[in-house]
Amino acid sequence: MAGVGYYAQGAWSHPASQRHRYTDLDFWLERSKLLDEAGFDALFFADVLGVYDVYRSSQAPAIAGAVDFPLNDPFMLVSAMLTNTQQLSFVLTASTTYESPFALARRLATLDHISKGRIGWNVVTSYLPNAARNHGLIEQIPHDQRYQRAEEFLAVVYRLLEHSWDNDAVVYDKANKVYADPNKVHTIDHHGEFFSVQGPALTEPSVQRTPVLYQAGASARGLQFAATHAEVVFVNGSNRAALAAQTAKLRAAAAAAGRAPGDIRIVTDLSIVLGRSRSEAEDKANEIRRAQSPEAQYAAFGGASGFDLSQYDDDDLLPTALTHFSQAEAARFTTEKDRPDTIADIKSRLLDLAPYARTLVGTADTIATEMATIVEQTDVDGFNLHEFVTPGDFEEFSEHVMPLLTARGMRSPATTAGSLRNRLFGHGDRLNDAHPGAAARRGQRQLASTPKASID
Ligand SMILES: Cc1cc2nc3c(=O)[nH]c(=O)nc-3n(C[C@H](O)[C@H](O)[C@H](O)COP(=O)(O)O)c2cc1C
Repeated sequence: MAGVGYYAQGAWSHPASQRHRYTDLDFWLERSKLLDEAGFDALFFADVLGVYDVYRSSQAPAIAGAVDFPLNDPFMLVSAMLTNTQQLSFVLTASTTYESPFALARRLATLDHISKGRIGWNVVTSYLPNAARNHGLIEQIPHDQRYQRAEEFLAVVYRLLEHSWDNDAVVYDKANKVYADPNKVHTIDHHGEFFSVQGPALTEPSVQRTPVLYQAGASARGLQFAATHAEVVFVNGSNRAALAAQTAKLRAAAAAAGRAPGDIRIVTDLSIVLGRSRSEAEDKANEIRRAQSPEAQYAAFGGASGFDLSQYDDDDLLPTALTHFSQAEAARFTTEKDRPDTIADIKSRLLDLAPYARTLVGTADTIATEMATIVEQTDVDGFNLHEFVTPGDFEEFSEHVMPLLTARGMRSPATTAGSLRNRLFGHGDRLNDAHPGAAARRGQRQLASTPKASID
């Protein structure tokens, strides 16, 4: 995240952490250069639009502990990080609940132009009531309605980015002073339940047109949305069996939505603590544990799940009723388990190393071997690697684990410059024909004529 703290809450207080430098552009340029040179596929920015305020019914624990707060705007950082990277792609989180589809399509397309196609969009529906109150609402739009809005949001973005400009619309004819052919630029005239957009898109077609679509909703509704639209899906599970079950469910849902098995890449969260020996890695893990903050971790859980752990006794169980927060967040302690966890179990799990990702502690060799085993056992395609200590973790991973992954044939094959979509799927820069966004290309053609102003 474009801030101090994320996922492993409190890790910014580790003696070696420099996360407080997040306001310094050099900090980000150092990160992008490192990841680009090491051959990572992409740098992913998570983002939220409000403060976590469920735990202790207060914003104080999140503000004190830097729980996804304060946060700068990752779009600004990415435009700077494009300047010192050649291969690395960037995946940006943007909310269909609070953004405008017309304005967001423009910002994404601009980044796609200037990066030559190295952009992905993590489509989120958001879950913080404070985010709703920051955007003119009294309370959150209900959970499933947020997904309804997300469906319409994507329909508008597809029409803008896939349909409104023909491939050959830009003629750049200096002799006749024609830049674009008006017959090949179309309005979209969308009038729906949530949005009204005339179009055309302000931007001419970029390399990928629609950026690569990422998604992570794990509720029943979220899974259906991912199966329909997402090209890359973040999938987690409380253990490997649950992760394998989730990937199987997603692949089946994608097939039911008419998509081929190769149309979706599944990525799971991973953290590592690397040592030259097992005991050195364990010592480092203990140092990270000491840096993590229970209060901040409970604040993060409260904000995401909607459940305030300060309101329960240790042997209570969380209610299984669905909330308007992230439904997947609580489910991993309740409905996903054979026997639900008690509040004491949940608290202790939240104090594990990076409770939101599986964590591997050991030597480079054991970590590379375990990564291969996870892929084999769970059918994931890749990893979203978290950092505990910045700088440090990515440097060590690049130096010691990446060469082993390369030697074992586990790296993404594409190492030449190209779009993110081509790197991930190898079928070119644009959405493939089976994707619902591709259907927007075939919509009815209209002239980009402006209605005459009428004076009554
Ligand atoms: C790896 C990962 C990253 C996520 N990043 C974000 C994020 O940046 N912002 C956000 O609002 N939600 C984020 N989420 C949450 C989901 O995208 C989703 O919006 C949330 O879980 C609510 O949907 P659900 O009830 O369908 O799970 C992330 C989830 C995962 C697993």
